[in-house]
Amino acid sequence: MAKSKTKRMGILTAGGDCPGLNAAIRGVAKAARGEYGIEVVGIYDGFQGLIENRWRMLDWDDLSGILTIGGTMLRTSRTKPHKYELPDGETIDMTAQSYENYKSLGLDCLVILGGGGTQKNALKLVEAGCNVITLPKTIDNDIAGTDVCFGYDTAVTIGTEAVDRLHSTADSHKRIMVLELMGNKSGWLALGAGVAGGADAILIPEIPFEIDSVAASIGERDRRGKRFSIVAVAEGAEPAGGFGDDDEYEGAGETHHVATRVGRWLEGQTGLEARVTILGYVQRGGSPTAADRLLATKLGTAAADLLAKGRYNVMVGSRGESWQAVPLEEVAGERRTVPPDHDWIRAARRIGTSFGDE
Ligand code: F6P
Repeated sequence: MAKSKTKRMGILTAGGDCPGLNAAIRGVAKAARGEYGIEVVGIYDGFQGLIENRWRMLDWDDLSGILTIGGTMLRTSRTKPHKYELPDGETIDMTAQSYENYKSLGLDCLVILGGGGTQKNALKLVEAGCNVITLPKTIDNDIAGTDVCFGYDTAVTIGTEAVDRLHSTADSHKRIMVLELMGNKSGWLALGAGVAGGADAILIPEIPFEIDSVAASIGERDRRGKRFSIVAVAEGAEPAGGFGDDDEYEGAGETHHVATRVGRWLEGQTGLEARVTILGYVQRGGSPTAADRLLATKLGTAAADLLAKGRYNVMVGSRGESWQAVPLEEVAGERRTVPPDHDWIRAARRIGTSFGDE
């Protein structure tokens, strides 16, 4: 057994689930146990489980057969240690309690798998005294310090298939099809699925859109005899002047989605029929793609090496074919948005895709 500075580690998953979490848990824990003899404590329900002391030792059997399974075997929550919600809705700071529980479990380090918000919460635990190593997971692909996050490839593949599948109804009915993708405040998912699926317009938060411009590009397609148009919209996309007092769409649920508004506006401006699809949590479900399994395994096993070296308080980011340990201070609070001159955008513009800003 190789030498290790870490003797006992905790592991938890926090924030929204995504495909590849189990592959990453397996990567870290199998390499940590198998190569370095590190004991692995699985903490359930994200930071909530750390605060409420819900955990159990993970052995080989727990780590077997999970590579292909979506979600997270450790379950997750959106609980933040510094904003723990009481039954009456009040929130209190449980950072010190989290540190106490970390100590009483005898942990040398806590491995935290999470998105942008989780990276910030992880840094707060470091400031409270915990040793932490994080891994970047999110379908939004918006974490700084890594080329890509696991979960994204699966989500963008699902999004692409949705664009593909919308083509037949769009063509058969001569319609505009508006597809809303997740992504929070970044456009990676809508951009990736839009370009890969051949959407005719792609609207992302990084490029505020003019609906007149989108309508003009669709009108032009109509004049050229194209029977349909497909618009991929990121959930965080906004018109250049903001939504304003959009009273017509006040109310609950789906009427607030940007895709619903875009669909109505385009019908009004083009005279063509529009239909809206909001893809939602389907994007986060199911088995991870090969690319996500490879990434999660690469980053997970790299984390085991950092545990052995005692190289703490970093995120394991992907860098080209390899990986890098990035100080958490450089990751927490930073969002990796789509650069407006990104190669995918430039390529899409050259083949006639509208971004609503022409
Ligand atoms: O961060 C992943 C994500 O799916 C975002 O794309 C989306 O905005 C958000 O989570 C939805 O969060 P929840 O699962 O809390 O509804």
